[in-house]
Amino acid sequence: MESNEQILRTEEFVKENMKGYDSGHDWYHIERVRSLALYINRKENQLDPFIVEITALLHDIADSKFSPGNSESGYSLIAGHLDACGLSGIKERVLKVIKGVSFSSNRFNKAMADPLLWVIQDADRLDAIGAIGVARAFNYGGFRNNAIYVPPDETGLLAKSTVAHFYEKLLKLKDMMNTPTARQLAMERHQFLEVFLSKFYDEWEFGTV
Ligand code: ADP
Ligand code: NI
Repeated sequence: MESNEQILRTEEFVKENMKGYDSGHDWYHIERVRSLALYINRKENQLDPFIVEITALLHDIADSKFSPGNSESGYSLIAGHLDACGLSGIKERVLKVIKGVSFSSNRFNKAMADPLLWVIQDADRLDAIGAIGVARAFNYGGFRNNAIYVPPDETGLLAKSTVAHFYEKLLKLKDMMNTPTARQLAMERHQFLEVFLSKFYDEWEFGTV
């Protein structure tokens, strides 16, 4: 099978298998991550763009948020797809990287020195900050029926909300980028998060202080 067709078939496979995901994890997220990953890879000049593209396309197929406790079936789905496309040769590497991409498996990542992981992970993290990141966070929060924001009580603790998610995760991402190119792109996107939060609190407290 020609590489063009392998890409096309992978696009179809991804669209088919992400139907139940929220809009922050839809096909457009996959397209943005693909463009970011290819851009970072061009700047860093590291890998064959083909494997970058295939991995970016497949990176969210086994997301445990949408198939709870069931990542394994996602991985075998991916393995089956790669075999069917004549891509058994890159299967092991692609699967290992996809397992390593998520925020939660950071410990596992330290042991894994593959530039393919660095590029895909950076691209995925960049799409979680900036204006798109804000939109995705509130969309995901709505999807889960979480509060937009809950002001801290006397103990100063921040209750579960989408704004709390900014502190738990989004504001940390700029310091977690692997490549200099992504670190550069993250600066502006991070600044936007700060501006957003500052305006958010101004408006929340309007007339009370
Ligand atoms: P990744 O897919 O990169 O491993 P996540 O799946 O945790 O990371 O996050 C994907 C997107 O969903 C991000 O834009 C993130 O902000 C959003 N998200 C995840 N958990 C929450 C949450 N509790 N509240 C709001 N947004 C969330
Ligand atoms: Ni993703």
